[in-house]
Amino acid sequence: MKTQRLGQSDLVSSRIIYGVMRVGGAWQAAGAGEADQQAVATDRILEAVDSGINHFDTADIYGGGRCDELLGAALRGRPGLRDKVIVTTKCCIRRLAKPVVGSGEWYDMSGQYVRDSVDAALRRLNMDVIDVFLMHRPDLLVEPAELARAFEDICAAGKIRWFGVSNYFPNQVSLLQKCLPMPMVLNQVPLNPLDVDRFYDGTMEQCMTDGITPTAYSPVAGGVFGTGSKPWENHPRPDDVNNVIEVFDAVAGKYDATRTQITLAWLLRHPAGICPIIGTTRSERIAESVKADAIDLGREDWHRLTNAARWYAGYVPMTGSKHTRR
Ligand SMILES: NC(=O)c1ccc[n+]([C@@H]2O[C@H](COP(=O)([O-])OP(=O)(O)OC[C@H]3O[C@@H](n4cnc5c(N)ncnc54)[C@H](OP(=O)(O)O)[C@@H]3O)[C@@H](O)[C@H]2O)c1
Repeated sequence: MKTQRLGQSDLVSSRIIYGVMRVGGAWQAAGAGEADQQAVATDRILEAVDSGINHFDTADIYGGGRCDELLGAALRGRPGLRDKVIVTTKCCIRRLAKPVVGSGEWYDMSGQYVRDSVDAALRRLNMDVIDVFLMHRPDLLVEPAELARAFEDICAAGKIRWFGVSNYFPNQVSLLQKCLPMPMVLNQVPLNPLDVDRFYDGTMEQCMTDGITPTAYSPVAGGVFGTGSKPWENHPRPDDVNNVIEVFDAVAGKYDATRTQITLAWLLRHPAGICPIIGTTRSERIAESVKADAIDLGREDWHRLTNAARWYAGYVPMTGSKHTRR
């Protein structure tokens, strides 16, 4: 597995990252007992390690904190492993006490909430230090100077090595970075064949300009771009999705690759150094995914795939602006 330095940090990550959200959340919803859940999560995490992945993504809200615990316990089970891997976790998403119309979430980047969240994450992970800590969603009430003080104190206490963000737009990254004494190393954003907005909103260019690594979550669109998968039954545009799938399958055939592999190879090919975060809970799909790293996707084929994704998203060719969808 190829590796890459994360932003301006000293951390060297595998190009493909393993996300543990589903092994501790969606998996639990399937009704497994707690012991089984740890056993399965440990197996998947160690399989990921053995197939060359050294970077794991989790968050306080995944499985209500359970994913942090599962990850920490899995890494502790193999002597010396903790020091060989990168652990990224996140905070900021809170639940409204009384949900209202719209979302039941709100985002809290107040200094005190972030300080408390770091301590809670360290306890759940049962670790002395977290490698990368992300602000999960932009808080429109953030006071950057207050947050900068919190980050400085947390770093000085040796609790977090590096900070980053997730789901941030370029202007939000710029504002925060301007106030922080340390460089942000990651911006974790949604990117897959059904969601290419971050190719057109300046996110990639900002990452390249400022030395931030973009990581892509839901890279196979939660399964739709997994090998052999079909659009969900209640998908609003199944025919359009199938059109995009056809293009990805055709290019995959040319490289003797699967749909999952060509989708990941497409993200990996971007010059911003995108690291996709895979979320499968199945051994065979981890093994399949890591092979994407070996595909040398040609320029024209990359654009073929991007044209299909861009068509689905409704972007006008060349300009990057959105047209009115039919
Ligand atoms: N920052 C954020 O806001 C944010 C949001 C979402 C996720 N994340 C992170 O990103 C990680 C990955 O996200 P994700 O899980 O949505 O990524 P994903 O890899 O796009 O989707 C994984 C899902 O796709 C299914 N799948 C994969 N291949 C398939 C196939 N061939 N046929 C049918 N289904 C298939 C998997 O099912 P199986 O398990 O059965 O393989 C799983 O349910 C998460 O673990 C989390 O760490 C971050």
